[in-house]
Amino acid sequence: MTKEEFYSSFKVLTKAELHLHLEAVISKKTIRYFYERKHSGLSDVQADSEIAKIFTYSDLNGFIQAYLAVQDLYESPADFDYVFADLKDYLVRNGISYAEVFAAPSAFIKKGWNFSDMVETYSRNIRKINSDTGIKIRLLIDVSRTFGYENAEKNLQLLLLNMIPEIIGIGLGGSEQKGPAKLFEKVFDKARSQNLFTVAHAGEDVGPESIWDAIKICKAARIGHGISAIQDEKLMQTLVERKIPLEVCPTSNVFTKKYVKNLAEHPIRTFFNKGILVTLNSDDPLFFGVELLDEYWNAYTEIGFSVEELKQIAKNSFVASFLTNDEKSEFLRRFDD
Ligand code: ADE
Ligand code: ZN
Repeated sequence: MTKEEFYSSFKVLTKAELHLHLEAVISKKTIRYFYERKHSGLSDVQADSEIAKIFTYSDLNGFIQAYLAVQDLYESPADFDYVFADLKDYLVRNGISYAEVFAAPSAFIKKGWNFSDMVETYSRNIRKINSDTGIKIRLLIDVSRTFGYENAEKNLQLLLLNMIPEIIGIGLGGSEQKGPAKLFEKVFDKARSQNLFTVAHAGEDVGPESIWDAIKICKAARIGHGISAIQDEKLMQTLVERKIPLEVCPTSNVFTKKYVKNLAEHPIRTFFNKGILVTLNSDDPLFFGVELLDEYWNAYTEIGFSVEELKQIAKNSFVASFLTNDEKSEFLRRFDD
């Protein structure tokens, strides 16, 4: 299949994406606008070179600093209107009909922003995108490993005071090395007691023990990345038996350079062969220069999945989602059509 044929046929397949960060889906145009607004008087060449400096990193912690630098360019919750406009374009461009998107409020709350103002922009934009396009978006609040337990607990408290139907759970992103799962056990227990879903990035920058902790201590329903599971046969068996899905983001893993040297060696192939419920995701399109359709293409050309296998992986994203069973059946019916 040629590249054009592949992209057009996978674009029309209705797809879900389960691991996508809101603040990282902004376009180059929006980042440029935010940057020049904050640093006025720069020539185009200077702006290009300063922006390029932000996007220079060689590991997960460097990437997280870049992520925080980008969040620092936002001036007010109204800036989320630009971000959601970019998210809408992204979802349409990639043929995504359902997305569970992480929003990371910690840096904004630290700047003194009012969480309820942020929630209002999330809610208004998500409803508008749904009425304009039919695309359904749900949010997971990333309570973050980077800033420790108290910050995560504060994020959850604010969330519980500002609940909206569009926010369905919490996630644990940020620095896996600095913030081990055991620190967040109580936040996760409390979230579940309030009927929120819980997921965690794990095994992205730390070995299989971090995935075990995310499952056993935080009782995460899904694992973001999970690539270091390749080192632990028993863990892979447990993921299969307990049907714990992995939100795999191949290009992101090549960028953060911890366990994966290149796409051809990505462990997703082994995970799939063993029967783990794997899904394909882009993680941070602005930072890694990759969108969901590109990841399907990469999986086809670099990792060696067949078209039929990729269709199975695309279906897995609905199966592994937090949609109700009725909603899953409806999306899967549309997929088969
Ligand atoms: N925040 C955004 N993307 C992330 C990733 N891949 N890992 C940890 N935190 C993140
Ligand atoms: Zn992520």
